[in-house]
Amino acid sequence: MTKDYLTTNQGIPIPDDQNSLTVGERGPILLQDAVFLEKIAQFDREIIPERVVHAKGAGAHGYFKVYKNMTSYTKAKFLQNPLKQTPVFVRFSTDAGSRTAPDSVRAVRGVAVKFYTEDGNYDLISNNIPVFFIRDPIKLPDLIHALKVDPVSNMHSDSRLWDYMSLTPESTHMLTWLFSDLATIKSYRYMESHGVNTYKWINAMGKSVLIKYHWNPCAGIQFIDSAESTRLAGTNPDIASKDLYDTLEDGKTVEYELLVQIMELDDEDKFDFDPLDDTKTWPEDMLPLIPVVKMVLNKNPDNFFAQVEQSAFNPATIVPGISFSNDKVLQGRVFPYSDTQRYRLGTNFLEIPINRPKTPVNNNNQDGNMQIMPNHGSTNYSPNTLGCGIPKPAPESGIPEKIYVEGYEVRKPISKKNDYSQAGERYCFLNSVQQDHLVSNIVESLSQAMKPIQERMLIHFMKANTEFGERIAVALKNKLLYST
Ligand code: HEM
Repeated sequence: MTKDYLTTNQGIPIPDDQNSLTVGERGPILLQDAVFLEKIAQFDREIIPERVVHAKGAGAHGYFKVYKNMTSYTKAKFLQNPLKQTPVFVRFSTDAGSRTAPDSVRAVRGVAVKFYTEDGNYDLISNNIPVFFIRDPIKLPDLIHALKVDPVSNMHSDSRLWDYMSLTPESTHMLTWLFSDLATIKSYRYMESHGVNTYKWINAMGKSVLIKYHWNPCAGIQFIDSAESTRLAGTNPDIASKDLYDTLEDGKTVEYELLVQIMELDDEDKFDFDPLDDTKTWPEDMLPLIPVVKMVLNKNPDNFFAQVEQSAFNPATIVPGISFSNDKVLQGRVFPYSDTQRYRLGTNFLEIPINRPKTPVNNNNQDGNMQIMPNHGSTNYSPNTLGCGIPKPAPESGIPEKIYVEGYEVRKPISKKNDYSQAGERYCFLNSVQQDHLVSNIVESLSQAMKPIQERMLIHFMKANTEFGERIAVALKNKLLYST
């Protein structure tokens, strides 16, 4: 039988899958119609839970090359050899909408990169905005509830969003980015993104530095305004996904450069903000952007569900030479990604080909739903002699980083909050058209909120920059959309 012929999932030939098996041509249908039962049962299970955030996505395969070896900062093997190409898979996404959300609407967008390195997988997950709404991960479920639909009406509500933000002063900086035109786009090819959280790089001598990551699109940065984003949401809701797909299908490539900012551990206290607070950016004049890697995307996924929907990224997936700083949000992100992936995709989600490392996997973890890569042999325990002690502990690469931790257990916010300076600086950095758009984008949304919420929010914007706050206040008044 050739591969062109129809079969069941068991490989049995099917002569007819368009007519169910009935008693006479008018029925009833027989329970013994296994072909019908299998086809319908598989259909019933086609949809899996969507990601709890970043549900709408598009993906691409490619590779990257490091510009020069990074030995002095990190022993990570994949960041050493400029002659080597390392495969990557990338998923672009929008954060708060559902799986069918329009691509162009105002949103935080994600860029998740899986590097298939010689030391196992490394996942670098970034957003198109360099800062985040909150600085403590325990707040994340509340934040996402406020951003997503109202549980009663199942509709988006600007009132709920601004209610939450007005009581979360640390979000002020993020809002100056989210309501700028940077957060409305029609193409992922012209979008920058940022690691947001602070990681560490460790070299072979055990010396570590703090790192912030940034991706720059080689084709330059482009975005659209609010009116165009609303128009495109209606006329071409998949515009960014289509743009990426069509570009790669046409045989063209899409390229990005990875840059890092490096901070010495001793310099952590030298700023008027806490460098491990993810509501802050690091000043580029003091901590310049260093180009590290060129990433080239050159191939569409073979199948959307298998590779994009089932891809699983996780900030905890790091390789030797990279580690976590004390950035609280990063620490809080170490657990939930694989936790949700076990629920969303199943226990053995790392055996799905798109998630599987290209290096051997060897441990005594076993079984669970849909296991397809059984351990070999009978010694599924360590230590053992019957299996010659295999799997053995892997050798340390280089001198391990020495970390000393001491302190009282507390539930306390950080002292150096500085919630407003960078929000004000961001407003001043924009040109006058960009400032106008930022103000009108905020007013368009904030005018839907109740008056006490608007007033609370105005206090934050005033504290960031008086002119900024006053312009929003005047525009809100002129819209006469205050409701009580
Ligand atoms: C406490 C803070 C955070 C928590 C608890 C959290 C949790 C999650 C969870 C549960 C997912 C779904 C994963 C999946 O279903 O595969 C996710 C996806 C994602 N998160 Fe976060 N997140 C947090 C902060 C951030 C930050 C600061 C960024 C910015 C870099 C970020 C970027 C992303 C991206 C880009 C995705 C989509 C990954 C993909 O394409 O599959 N998250 N997050």
